[in-house]
Amino acid sequence: MIILKSPREIERMRVACRMVAEILELLKSRVKPGITTSELEAFANDEARKRKAKPAFKGYCNYPSALCCSPNEQVVHGLPTVEPLKDGDILSLDFGILYDDFYGDAAVTLPVGAVDPAVTALLKATEESLYEGIAKALPDGRLFDISHAIQVYVERRGYSVVRDFVGHGIGRSLHEDPQVPNYGHAGKGVRLKPGMVLAIEPMINQYSYEVKTLDDGWTVVTNDGGLSAHFEHTVAITESGPDILTRLTSV
Ligand code: MF3
Ligand code: CO
Repeated sequence: MIILKSPREIERMRVACRMVAEILELLKSRVKPGITTSELEAFANDEARKRKAKPAFKGYCNYPSALCCSPNEQVVHGLPTVEPLKDGDILSLDFGILYDDFYGDAAVTLPVGAVDPAVTALLKATEESLYEGIAKALPDGRLFDISHAIQVYVERRGYSVVRDFVGHGIGRSLHEDPQVPNYGHAGKGVRLKPGMVLAIEPMINQYSYEVKTLDDGWTVVTNDGGLSAHFEHTVAITESGPDILTRLTSV
């Protein structure tokens, strides 16, 4: 069942979502060669605490951390470690909070120091595919218009769309209906309506879309060892079009 949000509820979600955007922005400036993802995890927890917000992921299905830290071939759900990041790595950071009864959820993939131009191209295409999808988050559109726009954008550039993980509705729960795949047929899927709030999150692999989960039960990696990028926004569908709630307005 898809739970529609009133304009007032969307304004409450915007507060939580803005906090997520701010904290990701603060994290971005800390991602450099030599820093560890455990340090980023501690920082994210501190920033949530300062805002009286609860990290959304810690404890969700027993996930152990507040921040998902997924370097290089890790796709999603990577765990913080004490290993320093190296020049040329990439790092996906996925963060969510609960504030005033509502969740916000967003992710970015960042270069660590100087990365190869081919790697920059993967990050850019993944982020742009998210905006291609968001542009289809229109009242009276169909859910898979979003999915299709993402898929076409990345496959044209030779990348592949992860099948095993998808975006989701979001609101008073972190994961609500509908599931939002990053591949699909335009014109299919449920009709989009004002008041739907979706976490749209393309996970894009450099080579094959196949992934596997490591023995820790969480860390998802590419099967072939290729790189993977992930960008996510929480987006409300309004009468006048998509409203990106996790867009940074000011820190
Ligand atoms: N952004 C991801 C999601 O919405 C992060 C979830 S991590 C988990 O699915 F630990 F909470 F599962
Ligand atoms: Co999400």
